[in-house]
Amino acid sequence: MTQTLTLRRPDDWHLHLRDGAMLEAVLPSTAAHFARAIIMPNLVPPVVTHKQALLYRDRILSALPSGANFTPLMTLYLTEDTDPSDVAEAHASGLVHAVKLYPAGATTNSASGVSNFDKVRPVLEKMAETGMPLCVHGEVTDENIDIFDREAVFIERVLEPIRRATPGLRVVMEHITTKDAVDYASAQDGSLGATITTHHLVINRNHILAGGIKPHYYCLPVAKREEHRLALRAAATSGSARFFLGTDSAPHTDANKLLPCGCAGCFTAPNTLSILAQVFEQEGALDKLEGFTSLHGPSFYKLPANDETITLFKSGATYPAHIDTAEGPVTVFDPGFALDWAVR
Ligand code: DOR
Ligand code: ZN
Repeated sequence: MTQTLTLRRPDDWHLHLRDGAMLEAVLPSTAAHFARAIIMPNLVPPVVTHKQALLYRDRILSALPSGANFTPLMTLYLTEDTDPSDVAEAHASGLVHAVKLYPAGATTNSASGVSNFDKVRPVLEKMAETGMPLCVHGEVTDENIDIFDREAVFIERVLEPIRRATPGLRVVMEHITTKDAVDYASAQDGSLGATITTHHLVINRNHILAGGIKPHYYCLPVAKREEHRLALRAAATSGSARFFLGTDSAPHTDANKLLPCGCAGCFTAPNTLSILAQVFEQEGALDKLEGFTSLHGPSFYKLPANDETITLFKSGATYPAHIDTAEGPVTVFDPGFALDWAVR
């Protein structure tokens, strides 16, 4: 008899949809499985103002396949010139759910991010007052810090001082990749949440670098040692409401990945749920999957969980090796094992 697993419809609390032809090509993969997603604002140019976020939201809604039931939860890209009253207005609209902090230079399209954290203090104070969450890309950009240490150093040098200086600020540590981040998040109160990607539960740094370089496994923050992957798996499957799914599905064309200086990002939207079911089953924690994909995120963002459900069948899953876009093919993340659970 085929085993089945029924979950409340999941949400993705960290997603890159891009714009234009890429948006059209990648959005159906997410909308097929997820009810809502926190949409990253690192377009070129970035989505900085309330007005820009609403225009981007309209473009996403227009790109939805007919009959799709998907709500984009918009975010604003924090710059040193961001106006606190624009942020408050965006939040009050009910359509913009978070502000994203990119340290300048940390990752894809982060050049307009923050270098001087004092300059964004008034915005952070306004957010603490209104309860709007700050989503944080937690890596220092100091060239002297080894790339594998940048997350742990960020917690100590940037995150903890910001939180201490701004009591009440609600923070999401995005796409955590280290035991250090798991330990830090676990020790905080409910004003802090942490998202974990699908790919960081599956790969460690050997997958990227051993036996030949694998650009499709390169993302930021970069995958770390095995001990860190195991800490992430333990956190995700623990049942703790502190941790929830943010896939960071980040499509780039193969042409942009396979370069002497290739882009960071794993495109996991098409097979994320199948991979997660397998990871949770391997950890003996299938009963914790719904919390991670469908309950903890809404609770942090103060939104109701979805009423609809999806069902996974243990009947073997297939997925395309790549999806075609008008800009060229985008390779789908290969977890390195056959997938048992299919969403139908
Ligand atoms: O791997 C990543 N890709 N990490 C990020 O922080 C940004 C993202 C992207 O936009 O491609
Ligand atoms: Zn991201």
